[in-house]
Amino acid sequence: MSAELQTQLLHILDKDGSISNTSDLKIEGLDQLDVFSALKSLESKQMVEFASIDKELWVLTAEGTDIVKLGSHEARVFDSVPEGSEGITIADLAAKLGPSAKIGQGKAFQKKWVAKQGDRLVRLVSSITDTTKADLQFIQQNGIHEKNDVLKDLKRRKLCDKTFYFLNLSYLIFYLPISKILSYSVKKGLNFSTVIEKQATDLTSEMIQSGSWKTEKFKEYNFEAAGLPSKGGYLHPLLKVREEFQQIFFDMGFEEMPTYNYVESSFWNFDALFIPQQHPARDLQDTFFIKDPAKATELPDFYKTVQKVHESGGYGSIGYRHKWNYEEAQKLVLRTHTTAVTGFMLHKLAKEFKPFKPLKMFSIDRVFRNESVDATHLAEFHQVEGIIADKDINLASLISFMDTFFGKMGIKNIQFKPTYNPYTEPSMEIFSWHEGFGKWVEIGNSGLFRPELLRSLGVDPGVRVIGFGLSLERPTMIKYGINNIRSLVGHKIDLNMVEKNPICRLEKDSSSRAFEHIFIED
Ligand code: PHE
Repeated sequence: MSAELQTQLLHILDKDGSISNTSDLKIEGLDQLDVFSALKSLESKQMVEFASIDKELWVLTAEGTDIVKLGSHEARVFDSVPEGSEGITIADLAAKLGPSAKIGQGKAFQKKWVAKQGDRLVRLVSSITDTTKADLQFIQQNGIHEKNDVLKDLKRRKLCDKTFYFLNLSYLIFYLPISKILSYSVKKGLNFSTVIEKQATDLTSEMIQSGSWKTEKFKEYNFEAAGLPSKGGYLHPLLKVREEFQQIFFDMGFEEMPTYNYVESSFWNFDALFIPQQHPARDLQDTFFIKDPAKATELPDFYKTVQKVHESGGYGSIGYRHKWNYEEAQKLVLRTHTTAVTGFMLHKLAKEFKPFKPLKMFSIDRVFRNESVDATHLAEFHQVEGIIADKDINLASLISFMDTFFGKMGIKNIQFKPTYNPYTEPSMEIFSWHEGFGKWVEIGNSGLFRPELLRSLGVDPGVRVIGFGLSLERPTMIKYGINNIRSLVGHKIDLNMVEKNPICRLEKDSSSRAFEHIFIED
């Protein structure tokens, strides 16, 4: 439609040189809104230049509107006078027409439609044309009349008046439905032709290779076009679930630990946590070691205490009784657990706060393990970790805390199983009953940090620290129904999945069934 109209306009311009007013064009069913978009498009190729025509818009007064409905006063007078010499008395006419009788008579005399015979009015012609009504009707429909003197006369008679519309082009389209009289004057542009060339909208690699870009005609940028709504940012499902965990921690009075450093020395990742240097976790098979730089420049001073505890014990421990190697502790690794940060923070805060101040801290961040990758395991994942440090806390505190913590996620039915961690004693795996699988599944790991570890870090005697950790990926995958971890993280993820997934709400109801939605078996 628009392309056809564009060609039509170009041909008219070719023939006539210019178009003074597009409202004069004899094109069937022409809508000035279509003319406008056709002209806009031709203008963008500099094929035409055009200007809008500002017009006075006329409207009828109440009396004028009445005339369109009932006829002019003079026509009403004429209609009320019956044919023949009998006519009608002036009194009867007044009774029939009211005020119109008086107003209409003069005009009807003037137009020689009727004449006075004694006290009666008689017709002079057999029919009349009510031009006043026709003119007003035209104005009502078109907002304008081509004859200025007609407009002037009707205005003088208070039958119509003008409304001035300033047609500002950038506003224009918003007023078009009201303003029917909008039109344009058009002349040829710089690139005028009757053939519309297709202009390229993109510079392609083919154009560059073939060199055709040199002669190609490109469409001009339209800086006035409204842009697409911006896409904005979206939170990855892992971040949504992280937010829920964060909220639970904040609700329970925890502070977040700074976990930005992925690279740690073996000292912080293992030694300071009382993980022996021969421990299998420190093997190349399990841990990513950094090649360059391969070593931390120096270890914190208290390494000597750590060394002593490892080699010969202390704080009630007999130690591992192996030779502790400084270089081994210097080796840089991608941290295998966020507990490396927990150890660092405990040491820092123990130094800062003398005497000791009770604390609750948590972290949710990335860790790396050199494991074989499958549908549910990647070489990197996120750990949710929390610790509470206080005097007079014990295993019962840990159990009760775990009840509350998991309870806040809707997991009410949990059990504990003793396990072994080099850094905690006692240590407990946390299990929850999974209705779907009909068995207990592991949901976390926890324990009381060993005194030989805490005391080497500088934590005051008598202070106990309970800690626990779980993965962020497992609840997220269940929550969002994702069964392959590679669709959750890495280069294969579908961005639509990220954009469309709803926010996460962990079911915080009281039944242990809620657990079904959160965890699956390893
Ligand atoms: N670091 C442990 C893990 O990797 C989690 C944990 C943290 C356990 C703190 C006990 C205390 O599973």
